[in-house]
Amino acid sequence: MAQLNFGGTWEEVVTRDEYPLPQAQQYLANKTIAVLGYGVQGPGQALNLKDNGFNVIVGQRPGGASWDKAVADGWVAGETLFELAEATQRADVVMYLLSDAGQISAWPVVKENLNPGDTLYFSHGFAVTFNEQTGIVPPDDVDVVLVAPKGSGRSLRTLFQQGKGLNSSYAIFQDVTGKAKETATALGIGVGSGYLFETDFKKEVYSDLTGERGILMGAIAGLFEAQYNVLRNNGHSPSEAFNETVEELTQSLMPLVADNGMDWMYANTSTTAQRGALDWRHRFRETNTPLFEELYASVASGEEARVVIEANQKADYREKLDQELEALRNSEIWQTGQQVRKLRPENG
Ligand SMILES: NC(=O)c1ccc[n+]([C@@H]2O[C@H](COP(=O)([O-])OP(=O)(O)OC[C@H]3O[C@@H](n4cnc5c(N)ncnc54)[C@H](OP(=O)(O)O)[C@@H]3O)[C@@H](O)[C@H]2O)c1
Repeated sequence: MAQLNFGGTWEEVVTRDEYPLPQAQQYLANKTIAVLGYGVQGPGQALNLKDNGFNVIVGQRPGGASWDKAVADGWVAGETLFELAEATQRADVVMYLLSDAGQISAWPVVKENLNPGDTLYFSHGFAVTFNEQTGIVPPDDVDVVLVAPKGSGRSLRTLFQQGKGLNSSYAIFQDVTGKAKETATALGIGVGSGYLFETDFKKEVYSDLTGERGILMGAIAGLFEAQYNVLRNNGHSPSEAFNETVEELTQSLMPLVADNGMDWMYANTSTTAQRGALDWRHRFRETNTPLFEELYASVASGEEARVVIEANQKADYREKLDQELEALRNSEIWQTGQQVRKLRPENG
């Protein structure tokens, strides 16, 4: 554990210096780790663990796209690839990485095949926190831990291949062996995390649902549309509106923020931009705070979970989702985006 000062607040974090990979390998040397689900997180975590020298098998329902993907990635049916029940039975650590909706329907099978002393691992606090709605109540003779990479499983894999890592949170929900914390730490390092910071299941899911509905996806998409529409309604061309709203942000400014922080990005723009942005920043914060409060309350009350579970249970969920995404793709702002991307010099 390293004690670090985050802007005046001290936090304990774990890096590969405090808990090196060989220690994780040694700790889990005799354990079989089953990764259930081979969607987005499943492949990232399973392949990273395997490449890091752990004993990994994959559990997946046969006949679907994910089974074929697992086979294409080198998992062998009957040797390292099994149906959910058998993979769970064979494992000491069960990493439950089906979609959150899939976790609800597969739970009876997984629960029945857990062995006392096993570790049940999640990458999201959703199933356990909203157990009144999901029905997922872990048996009281297993450890229950969480490691949640802060990003897509795809990035987890590509960053690992580049020798980098996504930061992850970790949490302990139930510790029957007295070793749950070390198990979570070893798995967090094993899946290729950058640094690990502690949370609990509830905080993980509250922050995650707020983040993705807010800045990471919902708010950013809404703000893009609002500014783009105002520019278009005032006679600006699609090219001008898109470049001033999306392209400059993703191609020029956010990489500067990622590398050196917000103040550094501000310092490297014109004085005209700096002055106006510093003033307007306060208006945007104040105007949006009530909306973020409303969002957080909707997450904390379980309403967001209810909406998601209800939507996912509908037979035509995928079809309706595809229609919504198609409408987004066909909207003027993102059609313009397609053109602008094609015109980037590297794509020319
Ligand atoms: N997406 C991310 O990058 C990300 C990031 C951080 C945390 N997480 C968390 O990681 C977990 C996995 O998320 P994900 O995004 O990787 O999920 P996903 O891509 O939607 O994975 C779906 C997987 O679940 C299987 N599945 C779905 N319903 C099933 C059912 N009823 N029975 C059996 N298998 C079923 C699918 O198999 P088929 O192909 O057969 O349908 C597929 O392998 C979730 O808890 C999520 O919140 C995800």
